[in-house]
Order: sequence, then C-alpha cells, then structure tokens
Amino acid sequence: MRATARAQPNIALIKYWGKRDSQRNLPAVGSISVTLDELYTTMRVELDGALDHDELRVNGSDARSMLPRVSRCLDTVLGAERLRARVTSTSNFPIAAGLASSASSFAALVAAASAASGRNSTVEELAGLAGRASGSAARSLYGGFVELRNAADGIAVGTILDGDTWPLRIVAAVTSKAPKPVGSGEAMEVSRRTSPFYSRWVEEQEMDLATARDAIVMRDFGKLASVAEHNCLKMHSVMWASRPPVVYWNAATLACLERVRELQSEGVGAFFTIDAGPQVKVVCLPGDEARVIDALSGTDGVESVLASGIGAGATLVNGD
Ligand code: DP6
Repeated sequence: MRATARAQPNIALIKYWGKRDSQRNLPAVGSISVTLDELYTTMRVELDGALDHDELRVNGSDARSMLPRVSRCLDTVLGAERLRARVTSTSNFPIAAGLASSASSFAALVAAASAASGRNSTVEELAGLAGRASGSAARSLYGGFVELRNAADGIAVGTILDGDTWPLRIVAAVTSKAPKPVGSGEAMEVSRRTSPFYSRWVEEQEMDLATARDAIVMRDFGKLASVAEHNCLKMHSVMWASRPPVVYWNAATLACLERVRELQSEGVGAFFTIDAGPQVKVVCLPGDEARVIDALSGTDGVESVLASGIGAGATLVNGD
C-alpha cells in the first residue's frame, strides 16, 4: 500500500494562463513546455488504515498548510472513501518560487498514489488527474517537448519531440527564494476577470501554439525563441494590466532580461521565459550554456543559477 514516484518540473514555452472551468481546473488555453531533467520532486505515498487524517512532510518538515490541496488531489485519484495517507515530498530545488514545484509535486503525487492503491492507470489518466490539481502538472507526466491541448471534455497531453532529438539546455537564474505573493491559480482568475488584454490573449494562443509546434518539429531555434519570448511577455502584460496588478518581477528579473538581450546581440543562441515568479529561465543551445551560466551568475541580484537538460516524464521509483 505504498509507492514512490519522481517527476521533474516543466517550463512552459507557450504559457497556460486562465481557466475555462475553475471547478474542474480546466485551462482556457493550450500550452507547450519542456520537462526538465536535473531538478526533481520525489513523492512517497503510504496508505494506512490506522491513520485518521492525511499527513504531509515536505523536505523534512511538517507541511500542514499544503495538506488540503494534497488531500483533495488524493481524493481525485482514489475517491473520497479512500484510506488516509502518509505523504513525504522531497525536492532538490526551491519550492513555491516560480520553478514549477507544484507541477513536479502533483505529477509525482498522482503517480505514487495510483500505484500505492494498486491501480494500473495509464499516463493519459494520470495527466488528467494531475491537471485537476494543477494545470501545469499534467505536462510533467510526459518528457521532452510537451503539448497540452484542450479537448472537448478535458485535456489531451503528449510529447511533440523528445529531448534527445533536440537537446537544448535550460539555465534558471534564481533572483529570490521568497514564496510568491499570490499563487498562480488565484492570479489567473484575477486576470480573467479584470485584464483588458485577457480575451486577446486567449484568441491568439492557437497561433502561438502552431508557431512553436512547427519550430520544435523543425528544430528551428530562432523561430522558437521569437514566439516563446513574445508569448511570455504577452502573458505578463495580461498580468500587469489586471486589477489589482499581478507583478512577479523584481529588479534582478529585468536585469537578467537585459543580459539575455546582450548575449543575443553577441550571437549567443539563448532566449528567456518567466513564469509566476521572479526567476528567469533561459533556454539555450548546448554550446552556449557556459556563456549563459557565466552571464547570469554575474548579473546583479541573481542568488544562484541552476542548469538542466530536457528530461523524461514522471516515473515510479523501484524498491519501495
Ligand atoms: C505561469 O499550473 O500553477 O507557470 O492550475 O491553478 O495550479 P493551477 O496553475 P499552475 O499555473 C502555471 C502558470 C504558469 C504558466 C505555465 O506553466 O504554463
């Protein structure tokens, strides 16, 4: 009655921002991401008839505040009549700071919970369940370049291209480890209700998805760079124009963007993307990784730099 699963965060190149059904947590738009390799979350789920409530430990500490969301996710996977669970989560990177720890956490959680109960769920089923907990988590069930599309009654997720075929590198500049001021789920609802740019954002998404999909299949770095930066800045424009405004950037976020622009003008193959947090993720060609790491490490306000390749989807960890 126990199982352990590991999943990596994913970084969206074409972003999910907005829900079409908040009850079922269905996204308003499709999205495209890359699943990382070196950063991961491990989730151990033990179902125990002797427990009268769920327990959660995150990186060695009791994490009561995160428990309701985890319990809801377990209800979705196992049904409300399930046994209570002892859940242990470990991540090797800062959580709740815009490095997509909720994606890796919920992807690993649904895989571990399903296996702990003896279910033999398909990856499609697990992606649907993970998406109920956190939209971006559905993408972490898959490896490589991943697309999430809206289907008639839910979502359809799949790999466009694997990471070995196009082994780009991702360098993340951590500019603050503080928890974000407002969670992405809540913030995107504020945008949907109040941002004058929201409807245009939704309208244009299919076009950006098609451009990015094509760029990935053709391995056209310049084309992917251009559409990914555009899509990222468009999402943040929607956020900034919300009421109250949703601003995740700090001074170092902007300094990193300027640094990337300089690198690009020097011919370095690199582009930036930013999610619901102040960190800047730079996607680059493998041969340019060292220059990107060097440049971001030397940028004012950057606390640390993490680098990763493109990895596989969530997996069960043997031996538990
Ligand atoms: C900016 O998946 O965290 O990272 O479904 O409410 O849990 P919920 O939202 P979440 O939103 C991710 C937003 C984003 C863009 C993206 O990953 O596509």
